[in-house]
Amino acid sequence: MSASDRDRLAVRPLGSRILGTGHAVPTRVVTNADLQDSLQTTDKWIRERTGIRERHIASPEEPGSVLATRAARHALETAGIAAEDLDLIVVGTFTPDYPMPATAVLVQRALGASCAAFDLSAACAGFVYGLSIADQFVSRGTARYALVIGVELLSHVTDWTDRSTAILFGDGAGAVVVGPTSAEDVAAGRGILSTHLFADGAHAESLIVPGGGTREPITAANVGDRRVTIKMQGKEVFKHAVRSLASSCRSALAAHDLAPKDVDWVVAHQANLRILEGVAERNEVSMDRFYVNLDRFGNTSSASIPIALDEAVRNGAIQRGQLLVLCALGGGLTWGCALVRW
Ligand SMILES: CC(C)(COP(=O)(O)OP(=O)(O)OC[C@H]1O[C@@H](n2cnc3c(N)ncnc32)[C@H](O)[C@@H]1OP(=O)(O)O)[C@@H](O)C(=O)NCCC(=O)NCCS
Repeated sequence: MSASDRDRLAVRPLGSRILGTGHAVPTRVVTNADLQDSLQTTDKWIRERTGIRERHIASPEEPGSVLATRAARHALETAGIAAEDLDLIVVGTFTPDYPMPATAVLVQRALGASCAAFDLSAACAGFVYGLSIADQFVSRGTARYALVIGVELLSHVTDWTDRSTAILFGDGAGAVVVGPTSAEDVAAGRGILSTHLFADGAHAESLIVPGGGTREPITAANVGDRRVTIKMQGKEVFKHAVRSLASSCRSALAAHDLAPKDVDWVVAHQANLRILEGVAERNEVSMDRFYVNLDRFGNTSSASIPIALDEAVRNGAIQRGQLLVLCALGGGLTWGCALVRW
């Protein structure tokens, strides 16, 4: 460590930044047309109400931990970090391979890492929650390198007879490696600027998988009644999503004396194009600053932000020095926002 680095650490805490990104999705693509007959819906209805055209659905050979490991390998490769150098693996998921152990330890084993590893349950906000944890660990110096993954196999908790939910969801995984900022990053103001997490349990039942936990253990009857699938009050969730995402982004920006006009990219949870349009309108940010890929992936819950982020970085949309807002809302209700100077 150089003398100037020591001086810097003496006067301010470390910061963290995203060093690499990766994603992995199942090979099978299911288009809206594929769902038309079984769900009595149309491609037109789905596109107009959600913006979704197709989604990836996992085969039995593609469990979540396998997709998560593939995404993690890409992220480690891009970051130039070896799995042995990881100090922490956090996986946001509510569709783990097993109730126990955590998907994070399966990823740890597959990667050959030997660090702390756990899953967190914050539904679609899981990635932003995980990024916040990684930021705290790295900024405090408790971890040097942390892997944050969002992975969901929503097809396993989808009621394939309910056209109001089955059209929305897809499977996939996205990952980032978080590490300490360099002196050069600090000078340029780059890194994870701050994270802001929220929850409101008053709406716990508005987006819920009622069966399959200890309150309503799995039985043949509740599987038959499709109680082990996502139940959603669509309109209520929609309204909360627009309101809470917009306000959390504004307050995160205000904490840094920034305004929506300063944002280069909003990489939001890819739930519904109309939700993103609502957030854009409320915050007076034009839609061309929202990175949108939900047309090809659907809603992949905690995986959606890291998948979108990885795509946008790899296709050159996101450039060094740009200001990004990452924001998500999901079951809980939980929501959150991270400001990142890339
Ligand atoms: C699910 C969602 C697209 C439904 O759109 P909506 O405009 O609220 O539609 P409604 O549920 O009010 O249904 C309106 C009509 O469309 C019908 N409908 C619902 N799904 C349909 C489908 N896939 N195809 C055709 N018709 C459908 C309904 O039966 C209803 O018909 P009716 O008026 O004859 O009763 C919308 O509520 C939504 O996106 N909510 C947020 C979902 C979300 O993003 N959740 C995850 C957040 S993490």
